[in-house]
Amino acid sequence: MGVEWTPDSWHPNSWRRANGIQMPSYADAEALASVENSLASYPPLIFADEAKQLKADLAEVAEGRAFLLQGGDCAESFAEFNPVNIRDTFRVILQMAVVLTYASKVPVVKIGRMAGQFAKPRSSDVEAQGDIELPSYRGDIVNDIEFTEASRVPDPQRMIRAYSQASATLNLLRAYAAGGYANLHNVHGWTLDFMGESPWAAKFEDLASRIGDALAFMDACGVDAARAPQLNGTDFYVSHEALLLPYEQALTRQDSATGAYYASSAHFVWIGDRTRFEDSAHVEFFRGIANPIGMKCGPSLDPDDLIKLLDTLNPTREAGRITLISRFGHDKVETGLPPLVRAVRKEGHPVIWSCDPMHGNTVKAATGYKTRPFERILEEVRGFFAVHRAEGSYGGGIHCEMTGQDVTECTGGAMDLDEQDLANRYHTHCDPRLNAGQSIELAFLLAEMLNEERVRDAGDGEREVA
Ligand code: PEP
Ligand code: CO
Repeated sequence: MGVEWTPDSWHPNSWRRANGIQMPSYADAEALASVENSLASYPPLIFADEAKQLKADLAEVAEGRAFLLQGGDCAESFAEFNPVNIRDTFRVILQMAVVLTYASKVPVVKIGRMAGQFAKPRSSDVEAQGDIELPSYRGDIVNDIEFTEASRVPDPQRMIRAYSQASATLNLLRAYAAGGYANLHNVHGWTLDFMGESPWAAKFEDLASRIGDALAFMDACGVDAARAPQLNGTDFYVSHEALLLPYEQALTRQDSATGAYYASSAHFVWIGDRTRFEDSAHVEFFRGIANPIGMKCGPSLDPDDLIKLLDTLNPTREAGRITLISRFGHDKVETGLPPLVRAVRKEGHPVIWSCDPMHGNTVKAATGYKTRPFERILEEVRGFFAVHRAEGSYGGGIHCEMTGQDVTECTGGAMDLDEQDLANRYHTHCDPRLNAGQSIELAFLLAEMLNEERVRDAGDGEREVA
């Protein structure tokens, strides 16, 4: 502290002078300071050069030469921390990426909502059950989901546990990405057992066979596919909503090569829809870190305000720096998104447009569960591409809440889950996620859309089906 705050004087702690919302107040200031000091002394989770590489990869997306796939839990939890969950989510993201690469014929940049996605913004500060009202659950990094007074008290020690879980998760992800699991020759092995029940499993098997044939063909031609680094592993990045700023500040590190500050908690961090206003503590923090960053854009975002935020967050207009993640809802995207796209294009800000078809499509089932109908998710994706086609811009990414597990949280899809099924395996700690089968299905349907866009751009009218 002790820094004089003016709009130009950024420091990792200057967010404390701005308007901070959606963060807990900790009763014990000493306990909080002790946790912050510990975290500040711990190793960074990522290295600045990795964030620079991701920014370069995202610059390719901004130019229309690559596609972004971002997915994972709405909220990671301490209870569901195990290697099977990590592997299965990673595996479904790989499967989705293969489907999308095959159709779009462009590289797919893969970012997990993993290894740090713990803090949640809430629409209400309190939760009522019957006559009892308690503070809301704000994610495992803040308090406990159990509905008791003691569980809902914010505990700074949880940040240490979140850091250690993020670190172990990232360690396993790095091993999977580089250590052979993600080798494209392994594509048949990625099929999940229970996917056998989904009609899309056979389609994935068919695609895997075609990829196997292509690799064998390359081999026969004398191309040593077994040694090509692009086929033997993959680049996989991690991300989360950087909501809990005491944690993020403690993990901010200065890059010795350039002097720039990086959030070392993840390669990519984003600002949520509730905290992206002018004078927000989150915008203040984000403007000073050099990572590639995202910003959620929902129906309440005014185009002029968006431009002001972009001027603040990306004054040098660096490509790959900003990903705008639109989340309007299936019935609002076609009216809400065009004014933003036009404003951004008029100002010449280089951004990646990514579609989050989840957060604008949450409904409450008659049984009380929060759910998302698959059809609406798909409709928002279709609307998103229709808008970008009409505006002449590039719809370059998808952002979804999904898991590799066979959960029953979103209705619809090929397995036709209905509201009665939700109770069977409803495990999320926050918003409803696509299960593995629904995620692959979404990837195939999205692939068809990307393929149509590609064919349309090529102007040959012929349609290839992935
Ligand atoms: C989220 O991504 O889980 C989230 C809270 O989204 P939004 O900020 O778009 O509501
Ligand atoms: Co969510």
